[in-house]
Amino acid sequence: MPTWKATALAHPNIAFIKYWGNRDEALRLPANGSISMNLAGLETRTSVEFQEISTELPGDSLMINRRPVKGARLQRVSAFLDIVRKMAGIETRASVASESNFPSGAGIASSAAAFAALALAATKAAGLDLEEAALSRLARRGSGSACRSIPGGFVEWQMGMGDSDSYAVSIAPLEHWVLADCIAILSSEPKPTGSTEGHALAGTSPLQAARLADAPSRLEICRNAIQQRDFAALADIVELDSNMMHAVMMTSRPPLFYWQEATLTVMQAVRAARAKGLPVCYTIDAGPNVHVITEGAEAERVAGLLRNIPGVREVRLARVGGPARLV
Ligand code: DP6
Repeated sequence: MPTWKATALAHPNIAFIKYWGNRDEALRLPANGSISMNLAGLETRTSVEFQEISTELPGDSLMINRRPVKGARLQRVSAFLDIVRKMAGIETRASVASESNFPSGAGIASSAAAFAALALAATKAAGLDLEEAALSRLARRGSGSACRSIPGGFVEWQMGMGDSDSYAVSIAPLEHWVLADCIAILSSEPKPTGSTEGHALAGTSPLQAARLADAPSRLEICRNAIQQRDFAALADIVELDSNMMHAVMMTSRPPLFYWQEATLTVMQAVRAARAKGLPVCYTIDAGPNVHVITEGAEAERVAGLLRNIPGVREVRLARVGGPARLV
């Protein structure tokens, strides 16, 4: 007998090796594998309740941060729920309520936490009990990076051959390496071009082919750096990978420029601090904010340094987070 109602929590994640571009847009099969770490302290909590009786109207309802949401965002959630309904063999509508403690749409992968929490809450509410790999595959259909917010700690999304083997697995538990992400927030405005539209443009850049050809090597270097807790190796590959993705973005047609003036100021400050011996590196997603990765013991010092940079409005500190879970 289905539970009908469930609540789940998931953390966003920051990619060390980025996902940019799909081989299959509808299934969100990525053009390359990616590696990330979950972000503790930042979280999305989502409750899903399926109606008990099938009614034609009204459709699914969605509340985000206590406000009703309609239009494209509701449609995306409904399309995702259709996949869950099909798996569970049910047809009833759902009420979804989601709350996050961080700004959405500004380069802190809000869709990752949102669809990871939704995948877990919706399947549980529909009476399904999916194992981690199946849950990760499902979350991927809502937002690619969401598949990486299902397992805990340091995670790799294997690109796979198709839908059945494109999911994320933990490559090291959260206790493995005490790292922190000091997020320099320059703007919490929603970005002009979302990731979904951006992925579709990746192939228009002549640089994307070179980025993809070199991806297996970057993945291996990053995986080894994590396994050996080698910060210098991690810093080098994380910055290279972020720079390569932004080179693709900037050379797409039309080009996508996510950086603001202060983005570059922070990048340069991070490189200067590393040259002086501080274990820090930057990585930037599809937005202006800069994620500054450091070793746990230096987190407060790095956050203090970032707060003094003009243009930085706020610094959020996140340590390595666990898996998506029911609450
Ligand atoms: C730049 O997973 O947000 O953050 O599947 O369309 O929801 P959709 O895209 P999304 O893309 C993430 C892009 C990125 C890099 C990364 O997190 O790997």
